[in-house]
Amino acid sequence: MAATRRLSHTVAVITINNPPVNALGSSVCHALVKEFGEAIKDSSVKAIVLSGANGKFSAGADIREFSTSALKTISLEDINATIEASRKPVVAAIDGVALGGGLELALACHYRVANAQSRVGLPEVLIGILPAAGGTQRLPRLIGVPAALDVIVRGRHVPATEALQLGIVDEVVQGNTVNAAIQLARKVIGTDLDKRRLSTNHVPSNPNMEIFLDNAVEKAKKQFRRAQAPIACIQAIRASVQKPYHHGIKKERELFQSLWATGQPQALQYAFFSERNVGKWTHPSGGRWETIAPKPVRTAAVIGLGTMGRGIVTSLARVNIPVIALEQDAQQLEIGKKAVNGLLEREAEKLIKQGLAPGTKLASVRFTLDFAELSDVDLVIEAVYENMELKKQIFRKLSTFCKPDAFLCTNTSGLDIDEIASVTNRPHLVIGTHFFSPANIMRLLEVVRGHQTSLTTISTAMSLGKTLGKVAVLVGNCPLFVGNRLLGPYLDQANYLLEEGYYPEEVDKTLEDFGFAMGPFRMMDLAGLDVGWRSRMEKGLTGSKVPPGTPARQRQGYRYCPLPDMLCEMGRFGQKAGKGWYQYEKPGGRIAQSDPWIKDFLQEYRNTHQIKPKPANPEVILERCLYALINEGFRVLEDGIASGPEDIDVIYNNGYGFPKYRGGIMYHASTVGLAKVLDALGKYHKENPDVPSMNPAFLLKKLVAVGGPPIKEWKTQVGTLVNKL
Ligand code: 3HC
Ligand code: NAI
Repeated sequence: MAATRRLSHTVAVITINNPPVNALGSSVCHALVKEFGEAIKDSSVKAIVLSGANGKFSAGADIREFSTSALKTISLEDINATIEASRKPVVAAIDGVALGGGLELALACHYRVANAQSRVGLPEVLIGILPAAGGTQRLPRLIGVPAALDVIVRGRHVPATEALQLGIVDEVVQGNTVNAAIQLARKVIGTDLDKRRLSTNHVPSNPNMEIFLDNAVEKAKKQFRRAQAPIACIQAIRASVQKPYHHGIKKERELFQSLWATGQPQALQYAFFSERNVGKWTHPSGGRWETIAPKPVRTAAVIGLGTMGRGIVTSLARVNIPVIALEQDAQQLEIGKKAVNGLLEREAEKLIKQGLAPGTKLASVRFTLDFAELSDVDLVIEAVYENMELKKQIFRKLSTFCKPDAFLCTNTSGLDIDEIASVTNRPHLVIGTHFFSPANIMRLLEVVRGHQTSLTTISTAMSLGKTLGKVAVLVGNCPLFVGNRLLGPYLDQANYLLEEGYYPEEVDKTLEDFGFAMGPFRMMDLAGLDVGWRSRMEKGLTGSKVPPGTPARQRQGYRYCPLPDMLCEMGRFGQKAGKGWYQYEKPGGRIAQSDPWIKDFLQEYRNTHQIKPKPANPEVILERCLYALINEGFRVLEDGIASGPEDIDVIYNNGYGFPKYRGGIMYHASTVGLAKVLDALGKYHKENPDVPSMNPAFLLKKLVAVGGPPIKEWKTQVGTLVNKL
């Protein structure tokens, strides 16, 4: 039954029952119409409580139904209108979540009682739409425009205590929410409900409201770039101020339809489901990690408290996992301790802001120099310098000091997990947990399985990722894994473009206009140019190991761009040095400004190498950089390093600033058309046959050969095609 009804004295309790999240699919909507209709008619019923089964009110409309009939869920507003018009008081009993259509349903009720652990919100913007069942009209009427704007445009999940402060809910209870709602319902039987019908109220306004909304639009354009939904949300809220409810609702519907036509909702909904499907991967043994119970991680240790380690410690403490933090010497320990304590203080402040008692959830962190103290931890995450010998040394020690069943994780950004595991006495418990910087903020976690990593280890690392609030993606072990591996060909193209006549600002602007959070040159400056330089020196691509007589722009017969090395040789390491591809106000400064020196430097370089600049063409910048990423994505699939295109997309959306409203890099390829991508790659490769990364991937060619199937069919195609390789 999608919804059930029982009678508690004179109160009908209607319960939405559609596991796992009580999504309001068409069967639930039909059931609600029926149950409300009968409750309203039944003379023994004096009031109604609306609740959700299994500890959740409702996560909103069923997103899966959007693709079949995008506008069907709008009939939810008809249900809302019926509820609001009821002369019998209706009280929403909110447990777990009331999100999207779920909260809209609750806003149509006359009162709302929420459990202290619950969250409410209108997160439709995150899936490319706007609240489309009256949410943009009722919420501003309830809590005013500024607060409604903040909740709707950011798609925030608002904790119950804050929802009470804002006035979204009327009561927050610790115990049984339905009982509390029944009590409230009985109390208000026979009272005047007019003021409780939000659609009949006015939105509080003032003479500056139009300017306030104009500013909000400008701010949203800057913050969300080309994402359309935030702007549509503001337009709908504007209508709530200017027009009566029924006009506002009409506007809400129109905006919903025009958003649907942009393609962004489809891309964002693909991204939403991708995040839930990633990493579902069959182990070479034939087993699947999702079917194996994870081991509990009750305590953890982090080795190395540098850039990454301190963020990882904070992430663990934040979810109540006590941590032992270990450094190499007293001085580094003191620096790390200060940094971690600073981050934890900020976390504590956030918790207080959310209405929770100071320190409620932060677990203890113990600082040490002694490996013997790690004897009892369930899991260790190593985050020392990116150096194989050092990592092996650490893992040998961990083998000795940690209990036999402790999981040993490495945060390496690309070293061989199997080689690290090989020095331990438990290679099956060794796994890569590749966090992104800053680790306490970035959502992405690449979980890298080695050849001997057990299903339990994978399951535990994936589950830890979820506990930490990350999107964990399971990937295979190859140099640089997935995200950083794809970055190579992308950055190569960006560098080649500079050789050929472009400037960092032009390349960055084109990719930022496309939607990337940051163009490649600003990104390199932020990450530090020296990181790649050191690795190239180790590989003998630059520096003293390069054989004499090697042409400046070639290595082993392939094209090579020495520009980043030349910058590093001059100490231009990026932000940390105050100069790189841009100049900064000071070392460590963040505001990138064009540097005339770079212009002269590039012109001189082109003269030296007799390169005639090509006419500027933003389309070329876009195609070369994006298609390089996409092509390497296909190779990753060919190699079986990612389990499907969704995995690559989740990685790029959450770790590399790809615009989510474009779905992901592979999804983008599917919308552009695989044949077009193949043609362009073919053309660029012909122009530069010494750039192997632009040679169209075998899998791309095969997919085009079978007619360029839709992305959801690639996974099966990949399986079939790879088996035929
Ligand atoms: N529709 C359909 N399926 C949904 C769903 C929804 N609204 N919300 C969650 N699911 C599914 C997930 O895909 C997942 O399915 P799976 O088990 O097959 O992979 C399952 O429910 C559990 O979801 P999560 O793994 O995300 O579980 P969590 O406990 O981590 O999170 C949640 C629960 C906070 C509810 C999270 O799922 C979420 O944020 N859901 C989306 C909420 C949302 O965007 N609501 C608005 C919908 S649009 C709308 O209401 C339009 C209206 O204005 C007309
Ligand atoms: P970092 O240089 O900032 O910090 C490394 C820390 O390890 C230092 O505090 C150092 O004192 C400590 N350390 C060194 N030897 C040690 C030992 N024997 N015992 C205990 N501690 C020791 O390095 P960062 O950037 O934090 O990188 C750490 C790891 O994370 C590397 O493997 C790196 O590749 C990876 N990584 C880095 C990212 C970044 O953006 N910085 C992103 C993702 C992964």
